[in-house]
Amino acid sequence: MIKINENFNKLQASYLFSDIAKRVAAHQQAHPEQDVIKLGIGDVTRALPDACIQAFHAAVDELASDGSFRGYGPEQGYDFLREAIAKGDFQSRGCNVEADEVFVSDGAKCDTGNFQEIFSSDITIAIPDPVYPVYVDTNVMAGRTGEAVDGRYSGLVYLEATKENDFIPEIPSEPVDLIYLCFPNNPTGATITKQQLKKWVDFAKETKALILYDAAYEAFVQDENIPRSIYEVEGAREVAVEFRSLSKTAGFTGTRCAYTVVPKECMAYTEAGEAVSVHSLWNRRHTTKFNSVSYPVQRAAEAAYSPEGRAQIQELVSYYLNNAAYIRKHITALGFDCIGGDNSPYIWIDGKMDSWEFFDLLLNKAGVVCTPGAGFGKCGEGYIRISAFNSFENVKEAMDRISNSI
Ligand code: MLT
Repeated sequence: MIKINENFNKLQASYLFSDIAKRVAAHQQAHPEQDVIKLGIGDVTRALPDACIQAFHAAVDELASDGSFRGYGPEQGYDFLREAIAKGDFQSRGCNVEADEVFVSDGAKCDTGNFQEIFSSDITIAIPDPVYPVYVDTNVMAGRTGEAVDGRYSGLVYLEATKENDFIPEIPSEPVDLIYLCFPNNPTGATITKQQLKKWVDFAKETKALILYDAAYEAFVQDENIPRSIYEVEGAREVAVEFRSLSKTAGFTGTRCAYTVVPKECMAYTEAGEAVSVHSLWNRRHTTKFNSVSYPVQRAAEAAYSPEGRAQIQELVSYYLNNAAYIRKHITALGFDCIGGDNSPYIWIDGKMDSWEFFDLLLNKAGVVCTPGAGFGKCGEGYIRISAFNSFENVKEAMDRISNSI
């Protein structure tokens, strides 16, 4: 008899964004006349930058003749892309990251979800609350938690991010082995200073823990004093893995390209206390389970690092940040407290009511989709998240409709 992985029974019925998509589809079926504006999942709406499109086309043409055709590429990604990333995203900003520490992949969702696989099933995990649900769900699937009681899984250490601590979680008082951090934060849009991040790095060093640092939204950081990478902090190479994505910056949500940096200094330990390189473990896992991203996609991603590509991406980021500023201004004028939206595409709003109720109210009365904060954890209850990823016209229309509905 084929048996299931019982850990799946501990999960919520469906993944947050699938659940929302189902509710929206049902609403659209019931109200076909209403033009729904989606400011829920952070999915970009603007076209790929022209530099990426040109490179994409050229690479497809290369595949059209035997002489320039390419089959399997290196599992970790082509050198041309790994080098462009190491130079463009890190070395140019004074961070020491080498090309062979970059693992190209098809998404930060997959990488943040898969990375836990290389660690023991009995480690203690620290996870912020609220949080991108992938970190929690993948650890539940791996059997690192007990059942969920009142919205929280036993066995996890929750790092609460609330108004009281400016949405920056405190260092836990108990020992933990694996720590998830995300800045600029999804969902709150909060950012962290170098001094605050240094405390986490020092804590990880003292306790031989590892930080999984999700920096998928770093391109939205405008303030020069806010770190874009954890490697801006001294000592981070020994204790931190960083995840990045071209999804929200260069518009690759559908095209798929991301990467993970695993410094060679990062170590994890055997039962006997012997240090093992996390880089070699991840390389082993990656080469076994993944064949990288297609050649044209990697060429398109490489073009994002060209001077033209950079300028076009900056324009996209500014466009979405302009939307974010507009949303924030209007929501504040309606009397709601919110954060985010300045160095982040997300605005985190204290709705002063049950967050699914607020979600239903916006959908039913305004035809606007947001994300209920409770879907990101217990501390998200009472909040909603509005995403700035849409056309300015739609954002403007959505804000008008919300003003008229509340
Ligand atoms: C979000 O809306 O939180 C993200 O778009 C989800 C994702 O990147 O998978």
